[in-house]
Amino acid sequence: MNALIVSPDTETRAVIQRLCARRTPPIVVTKEVPPMPGGDGGVALAVPGLIFFDARGDAAMALKSLEQLVTRYPKAMILLLAPTHSPELLIAAMRLGVREVVAAPLNLLELEQAIDRVSERARSAAREEGKILSVVSSKGGSGATFIATNLAYALATIGQKKTLLIDLNLQFGDAAIFLSDARPAMTMSDLCAEIGRLDEQLLESSLLNIEPNLGVLAASPSPDPDDSVRPDHVAAILALAKKHYDYVLLDVGRQVNAVTIRALDSSDLIMPVLQQSLPFLRNGQRMLEMYSTLGYRRENIRQILNRQDEDSPITVGDMERGLGHRIAFQIPNNFDVASASINQGEPVLKLARSSNLSKGLIEIVRSLTDAPVPGAKSIIRRLFVRNAAMTD
Ligand SMILES: Nc1ncnc2c1ncn2[C@@H]1O[C@H](COP(=O)(O)OP(=O)(O)OP(=O)(O)O)[C@@H](O)[C@H]1O
Ligand SMILES: [Mg+2]
Repeated sequence: MNALIVSPDTETRAVIQRLCARRTPPIVVTKEVPPMPGGDGGVALAVPGLIFFDARGDAAMALKSLEQLVTRYPKAMILLLAPTHSPELLIAAMRLGVREVVAAPLNLLELEQAIDRVSERARSAAREEGKILSVVSSKGGSGATFIATNLAYALATIGQKKTLLIDLNLQFGDAAIFLSDARPAMTMSDLCAEIGRLDEQLLESSLLNIEPNLGVLAASPSPDPDDSVRPDHVAAILALAKKHYDYVLLDVGRQVNAVTIRALDSSDLIMPVLQQSLPFLRNGQRMLEMYSTLGYRRENIRQILNRQDEDSPITVGDMERGLGHRIAFQIPNNFDVASASINQGEPVLKLARSSNLSKGLIEIVRSLTDAPVPGAKSIIRRLFVRNAAMTD
């Protein structure tokens, strides 16, 4: 996100600039200027999502300058630095749409927290609704949880997307332990028990945080005792989640029930996971028939072939012909890395960045996000450039 800093004080501008650079992802300050009479000094190089406006000093001039900025950048969120003793200024600023004020003299912690609040609001306002991806197991042990968890991690880290993973295996869901050995304080059933007060804060506080931009809503460690997770709860959680996350991944597992069907109804993409064997092929065909009965469009179904094996007697082509549907993605067979990752609760990308499993995951991220993804080539090029520089 781009930011514009308007302050007469060099030291204040430097402090804000430093705090912005430290955010994840960083806030890029495209311009810093002192406030000008008439406000023209606020012309930024890029349209700012966030404006830091220092209103200390001449209140009338500050308001005039602020008004001009608001007219020029109506969508920007504004963080006002203001003297506490001027309620008139604050009221006028509020009327102009300012929703976040930090009182002078500046307290660094307060300023930092305000920046986080206002930048998150700016991001939500700018963000298109997130995408919901359902990873479904065609048959027990397909690797759906392994792929859902590792893809969520890859989207958050390689793809730099704000990502939420929800474990919809209501009987003994195990997604959280694929990514961390920490115990989640709250689970899906706990959140559904509080559904009446569902909002962004409650959702956030129910998550196990894996990375700053990756949270997991874990399944209850015991089978959902009182059927507390209902289809309308899932629909409400997903509707909220897509407003605040770029990607919402669901580990749907292999159960077909009212809850999982409601989740699939809300999904942008359904990703069944299968392997090269006849039982998987048969179940895969049945699932495609069921999706067609439920009215899901074929182009929204992306088959993932897991444990892909060149030497298997059933080839990828056989699977595609049998299914009558393309295999969109392939994840190779690599038992050593997969089981080490699961047993240690460490995502594959963290544990074995250069493994063939990581490459398969990165390829899915690239295809879903269209993001340029750092690959082996760029590392070689960097080394090459560095060596070339040394010999120059
Ligand atoms: N690409 C892979 N290569 C090798 N082994 C794999 C791969 N993917 C998954 N596995 C192995 O398969 C096992 C089952 O994986 P996982 O628990 O993700 O499947 P699932 O479909 O979620 O199963 P369930 O139906 O029990 O929920 C894991 O223990 C893992 O060791
Ligand atoms: Mg599973």
